[in-house]
Amino acid sequence: MNVLKNYWELGSRVADIVEHVLALPEPKLILPTGSTPLSLYKELVNRQLDWSSVTTYNLDEYVDNTIQDQSYRYFMVENLFKHTNMDEDNIYFPGDTAVWPQMDYGIGVDLCLLGIGGNGHIAFNEPGSSFQSETRIVDLTEETIKDNSRFFPTIDDVPTQAVTMGLKSIMSSKKIVLMVSGEHKLNIMNVAMAGEVTESVPASILQNHKNVKIYYCE
Ligand code: GLP
Repeated sequence: MNVLKNYWELGSRVADIVEHVLALPEPKLILPTGSTPLSLYKELVNRQLDWSSVTTYNLDEYVDNTIQDQSYRYFMVENLFKHTNMDEDNIYFPGDTAVWPQMDYGIGVDLCLLGIGGNGHIAFNEPGSSFQSETRIVDLTEETIKDNSRFFPTIDDVPTQAVTMGLKSIMSSKKIVLMVSGEHKLNIMNVAMAGEVTESVPASILQNHKNVKIYYCE
């Protein structure tokens, strides 16, 4: 595990990894949303990298979301995509069901970036998700709805379902970087990375991946 001085250092260190991957021919990335990757996206925008041959897949998206500026597509456009030279045709979200087979089979992802939810979820694979899961619609747990209500006017506005890449799909990435920010995530991160590998803690599946790096800051 890499322990960083602060949130900006975390963004900068992970940006180094992304920059390296962007130098590959036709790189493919899986990207997360949430507050954790914001310093990374800011740093990537500042570096003005060449995204012209990059393909990105987002991990998840709400279903039946009525607050458009809380959609994950909006988040990505505002925080990263609109500041780069990315080809719009190479940006994929799982809200589009036509993309599901691509997300699940052999897209050859070079790098998957992840955050972790308070209950150990990755993307929206909630506790109990099968380690064999693929892209699908899921019900969000009460804890996740409560956690995410900080971004919505009221808790009743938080969607109760989402589309998420599955755990199997995520695990097929060549390299995975888990970003963890804040002491409140320390316990779940330790449980996931050093405890039992169990579907009750979805992130624990990462222990079975050969190329995972964890970046943590308080
Ligand atoms: C949401 C997303 C996850 C993200 C998690 C943590 O539930 N679906 O992909 O990792 O939130 O978010 P944050 O980084 O804001 O703590």
